[in-house]
Amino acid sequence: SKAGDGSGNPRDFVAKMISGKKRLVIFYGSQTGTAEEYAIRIAKEAKSKFGLASLVCDPEEYDFENLDQLPEDSAAIFVVATYGEGEPTDNAVQLIQNLTDETFEFSNGAHRLDGLKYVVFGLGNKTYEHYNAIARIVDRELEKAGGVRLGERGEGDDDKSMEEDYLEWKDGMWDAFAKALGVEEGQGSDTADFVVSELESHPEEKVYLGELSARALTRSKGIHDAKNPYPAPITVARDLFDIDADRNCVHMELDIEGSGISYQHGDHVGVWPSNPDVEVDRLLCALGLYDKKDTVIGVESLDPALAKVPFPVPTTYQTVLRHYVDIMAVASRQFLGAFIKHAPTPAAEEWIKTLATDKEQYAKVVGSGCLKLAEVLQLVCGADISAPPTKENITAWHVPFDLIVSSIPRLQPRYYSISSSPKLHPTSIHITCVVLKYESVAHDKVPSRWVYGVGSNYLLNLKHASNDDQVALITGAKALADKHIPQYSIEGPRSFYKSEKIYKSPIHVRRSTFRLPTNPKTPVIMIGPGTGVAPFRGFVQERVAMARRTIDKNGVEGLNDWGKIYLYFGCRNSKKDFLYKEEWPEYANELHGKFVMRKAFSREPPFKPDGGKIYVQDLMWEDKAALSEAILTAKAYVYVCGDGKNMSKSVEDVLMRMLGEAKGGTAEKEGAAELKLLKERSRYLTDVWS
Ligand code: 2AM
Repeated sequence: SKAGDGSGNPRDFVAKMISGKKRLVIFYGSQTGTAEEYAIRIAKEAKSKFGLASLVCDPEEYDFENLDQLPEDSAAIFVVATYGEGEPTDNAVQLIQNLTDETFEFSNGAHRLDGLKYVVFGLGNKTYEHYNAIARIVDRELEKAGGVRLGERGEGDDDKSMEEDYLEWKDGMWDAFAKALGVEEGQGSDTADFVVSELESHPEEKVYLGELSARALTRSKGIHDAKNPYPAPITVARDLFDIDADRNCVHMELDIEGSGISYQHGDHVGVWPSNPDVEVDRLLCALGLYDKKDTVIGVESLDPALAKVPFPVPTTYQTVLRHYVDIMAVASRQFLGAFIKHAPTPAAEEWIKTLATDKEQYAKVVGSGCLKLAEVLQLVCGADISAPPTKENITAWHVPFDLIVSSIPRLQPRYYSISSSPKLHPTSIHITCVVLKYESVAHDKVPSRWVYGVGSNYLLNLKHASNDDQVALITGAKALADKHIPQYSIEGPRSFYKSEKIYKSPIHVRRSTFRLPTNPKTPVIMIGPGTGVAPFRGFVQERVAMARRTIDKNGVEGLNDWGKIYLYFGCRNSKKDFLYKEEWPEYANELHGKFVMRKAFSREPPFKPDGGKIYVQDLMWEDKAALSEAILTAKAYVYVCGDGKNMSKSVEDVLMRMLGEAKGGTAEKEGAAELKLLKERSRYLTDVWS
């Protein structure tokens, strides 16, 4: 159909814009929802600043060829994330293909977008080589096709400063935008996106109490993906660290039999956590909703095209805060700004305004203190944020709940590298997760406190519950550590988290490209200190399964031409945090000398001659002759998993040094060239996090 003819083609975004009086179209390339949230924020700001309405689009749902039909007084905004090795998000694959393919015709019959006004904001991660590659491609291609960029291209770094990058970018962009579209600030209106209403009576069985999707409630089998996670029974849960270690590392096995879920070695599993009770209560108290926590509420969107109600309704206040929104994140500066006018006292108003507007104060108090929204609301009212929240120690803020629903991002799944192989464990997915807990930086107004990772502490709670090993039963150093762990309500509603004696967690699988070469003759070099070893347990299991089949057919000689399987593992201490210590020798037995495991125990002897710690990269340097040979001659694959800040860089350095030397040159030149080549040939693969 022709654009704008109102024929009702649901894939025609231009027609939708015209009929809805919308002058902006915002496309988001989003995998986990962050880019989508920024797209919605941009739409809201266009509305509140200039009174302009937007159509926020998942590019997969619209026909891209209409882009040239955008009316003169309109603009197109692209908010796109870059993944892994410079890839677009799944929902933007087609969009990128259309933009880069010069034979792709827009509705004018050419690959031209002359005069199209556009804006680009990219989301990327600086620890990856192809930082914001997709945003750059979009910008380049639109410009090539005759488009006119408004302002600068924005780029946010997911590793460190996404929020600040966005705030710094947007003002300049809006200035250029206003000029180009001939609009002025102040024409907008600050309208809420949702209306929240308390319902007098409602059939109890129709109230959502934490089910993640409508489909989960009806328990239809369906396809389980990020939109419909599967409540997987936990069959095994244990701590991999020694009782004397002051940290926990949860090993969990999730049963996927009959779920229709499949996975491969190297994939990720998304775990859908809940928020801990103490933080749910804290926010309920701060908002004056503690007594109404189970009141049934309905939520309606005022503009469903701009903002969909992000969770199933009707529900309750406490359910929203426990299961659907991310109340554990450090409160953003922009977000605090929205609370200024709701402050219960002049002093609180002044203080929260300072935090929202003064970048330095914000960084010092909220940033270093790792303060969540509820803690900021408490703090600026003079409450003691270290004490457990009670109705009495908080001055309640009368914030419309609409604001909470509109501005707190949705609670997202946490992704873990799967630590099993489906060849050995076809009906279960294994997770290896170190429990995150650290002390925040103290400040004159904020004491140092424990900060807990949401996903890992949720798993630790599930582990305790599944084993019935309540905190009191634990002895030694761990008891001390565990005293602090926040409790999660994992008994859950309607057997969602528990049925009979079995606990469950909602999960889904995300595919990755972190895979072994298919041919076992190709050597592999895996570097995974700490929980970075997780995917490599799956890799080694994968090779063990293959070895069993080969030996069945051809005997042990069948393994003669196999390449070596190197694993570089590191941890603090051989007794306390050596992951899967008892399994590796068994794998080595079955792999008959093909498996070489190297271990760096950083906090026990031997140390370096100067007393320094020995890390995985030091062992790699000791083995440089064999490793260079494997890489340069036998075309080995190299895999790195774990800390993306320091470790992965040191590993790259040591590889460049050894390859440079083997080539008779330097690390900087020949070594760097070899590493680049490895990356280009997809023989250097990473799964790193920060
Ligand atoms: P450390 O904590 O004693 O410094 C798993 O976390 C292992 O990785 C630990 O033994 C840890 O040592 C080590 N590690 C820390 N920083 C590292 C780095 N930059 N490169 C390699 N290993 C590192």
